[in-house]
Amino acid sequence: MADRSYVRTGIRDAVATVTIDRQSRLNALNPQVMAEVDAAFAELRDRDDLRAVILTGAGDRAFVAGADIGVLARMGPVSGASVSREGQDVLRRIETFPRPVIAAVGGYALGGGCELALACHLRVASDRARFGLPEVGLGIIPGYGGTLRLSRVVGLGRALELILTGEMIDAARAAEIGLANVVVPHGELMERSRALARRIARNAPVAVELALKSVYQAIDGPAAHAQELEAALFGLLASTADMKEGMAAFLEKRKAQFTGR
Ligand code: COA
Repeated sequence: MADRSYVRTGIRDAVATVTIDRQSRLNALNPQVMAEVDAAFAELRDRDDLRAVILTGAGDRAFVAGADIGVLARMGPVSGASVSREGQDVLRRIETFPRPVIAAVGGYALGGGCELALACHLRVASDRARFGLPEVGLGIIPGYGGTLRLSRVVGLGRALELILTGEMIDAARAAEIGLANVVVPHGELMERSRALARRIARNAPVAVELALKSVYQAIDGPAAHAQELEAALFGLLASTADMKEGMAAFLEKRKAQFTGR
């Protein structure tokens, strides 16, 4: 893996872990961190031995405490729009990553950090996690896709409450509103995230990838197109060796051995 200053990648048992490590700033996202996160995912994208990715923040205090306010403070209207667009693009590439991406949130996930967690497909929170979109208190709005994604995940009323008040919520409340999929004891965060990844990895890899594609197409596009695509992907999966294996295994009362073909 490439040598980076702020982002580490490790792979074990077909599950990659991408760790953002800028602990002196609670893992805040400056342009270099963003570029390194983007590069780490680009490097993982072509690996067909991979079944899932876990994205996390180093240390005990933060997933990511937001975009770097020191950098944001210097932006003007034109550079501000590019900061937003470039951040949106990086997060969109995570959302469209072909394998499931799980955010393991063990502390602050604020502003851009909350938006980063929202761009992941699933969120595991430790009981020390805190989520929030404090941007309006800084005179800005969430600019990395958060105004769009939050309401999809928690519903319009709750999204507006979080965005307009800028208040933080704890892990239990995040799970109650669906922002976190599950809350786990802090010390078990990575193991429980890996267990979720391994559970997904037991399924047919191409089916998992096309399920993600179908679900996101359904929320992004018109219903008629989404249904068309779902039917086409469903048909495509009928051509895979894994479909034959999955169904044969069920009928023969044995465990399926998937090959990703
Ligand atoms: N950008 C830049 N620096 C940040 C940062 C961010 N988003 N979040 C934290 N830091 C820095 C702090 O400035 C501090 O640096 P210092 O040691 O040089 O003073 C260091 O990280 C530790 O944070 P600190 O504020 O001392 O910790 P705390 O426990 O008192 O508070 C938070 C933690 C998360 C509540 C607080 O850091 C905070 O509000 N951060 C900003 C969150 C935010 O608004 N994010 C959205 C940005 S759009």
